[in-house]
Amino acid sequence: MDIRRPRGTKDILPEEQKYWNLTKEAVKGECQGFGFARIDVPIFEFKSLFMRGTGKSTDIVTKEMYEVRRAEDVEAEDGDKDEMVLRPEFTPGIARSYIENGMQGLPQPVKLYYFGPVFRYDRPQKGRFREFYQYGYEVIGDPDPSADATVILLSWQILNKLGIGKNLIVEINSIGDKVCRPKIRKAISDFFSKNQNKLSEEDKKRLTLNPLRILDSKDPNIQELIADAPQTVDNLCNACRDHFRTLLEYLDELNIPYDLNARLVRGLDYYTRTVFEIRDQEDTSRQSSLGGGGRYDELIEALGAKPTPGVGFSGGVERTIEKIKENNLEIAELSRVQIFVVQLGDKAKKRCLNLVKKLDEAGYPSACALSEDNLKSQLGTANEMNARIALIMGQREVLDGTVIVKDLKDGSQETVYLDDLEKNLAKKLQSNG
Ligand code: HAM
Repeated sequence: MDIRRPRGTKDILPEEQKYWNLTKEAVKGECQGFGFARIDVPIFEFKSLFMRGTGKSTDIVTKEMYEVRRAEDVEAEDGDKDEMVLRPEFTPGIARSYIENGMQGLPQPVKLYYFGPVFRYDRPQKGRFREFYQYGYEVIGDPDPSADATVILLSWQILNKLGIGKNLIVEINSIGDKVCRPKIRKAISDFFSKNQNKLSEEDKKRLTLNPLRILDSKDPNIQELIADAPQTVDNLCNACRDHFRTLLEYLDELNIPYDLNARLVRGLDYYTRTVFEIRDQEDTSRQSSLGGGGRYDELIEALGAKPTPGVGFSGGVERTIEKIKENNLEIAELSRVQIFVVQLGDKAKKRCLNLVKKLDEAGYPSACALSEDNLKSQLGTANEMNARIALIMGQREVLDGTVIVKDLKDGSQETVYLDDLEKNLAKKLQSNG
């Protein structure tokens, strides 16, 4: 047969679908629990969006984008004035949608999540495709380090829900903002200029275009040189240093293990301050990053709207699923949501996340949907997730320190004091088999 699938693509066969469904469910459940709403943006967009967003000097934009043209125009060799490309990532498309749909007028921050295919022309190998899927989320309109911490915690929870949290580490760095970036850039540029003769042609080009990227050069001949290069964190301005320190304090409090990686700069131009990646500590391959993200306080402005901060993360779905398989995790073994917390009213909403975290820690995989307000839609989500028990918390229960425990199998329900909740759940789940 001479018709084959293109290099770097794959078929997701029926037997694979269970892994995809599981990942989608975990992303949906956790994102909704953290108050994120789903968004879908076009698979192709104007090329100029990524030139201005992702950045003209990035590999993604200079080497990896697929152009989209009408077959008829290609034949006529008619250069399209409004060139379009397949999206190589989501973030600029989400930022465009935020601006174009007037989301600046909504209460801030706006929290959005997504799941879908992206396209990059790269050399295919294990864990690297030309068409691959990303899940991700963006918090737009919140400059505070707690937003960065939320995004990292959400990523952490998703990977844990999928049963692959054991050896993970967050690599993190801060690369400053428009106040201190010139100083950071100069220090790095001066350092490598003195050692220009050691640089490859590619890194020499970076010296003028984007010297920070030399820090993550893969060239084996300059690894020792890089180790001696000035670190971005040494030249941060006070505001950036405080931001980074506060974020790390959040991570300490959340008990999320991290590694300060002075070489982490990430290959996208829009980042300011925080950059991070999550990977398996035992995996030393180049394709070990399960996902990455960071802050982009200048992106919305670069796209022509009023300055608005943002922070987000995208995870690679194929790499995540590969990890689930490597760990020999059977789908049934993975922690499925057992308990769904339904919240009614503002007070209950505030209590809800804490209760979910406590139950999770006590060994009862739990979820909630902060973006949904009424009983019916929340019970619907609980059923979609196949939860066994719904805990209903309204104004009255908050005042009384109780919760309504509803068995979703037989429909029975009773009011239980929060202090007795774990005992009650243990009994119910045991007798439920
Ligand atoms: P990124 O680091 O380019 O970030 O991609 C995120 C993740 O997508 C990577 O960590 C990896 O798991 C997966 N990935 C990247 N390239 C490939 C490939 N060729 N084949 C398979 N998987 C791949 C972004 O895309 C940013 N939009 C992240 C972000 C969101 N920053 C702020 N908000």
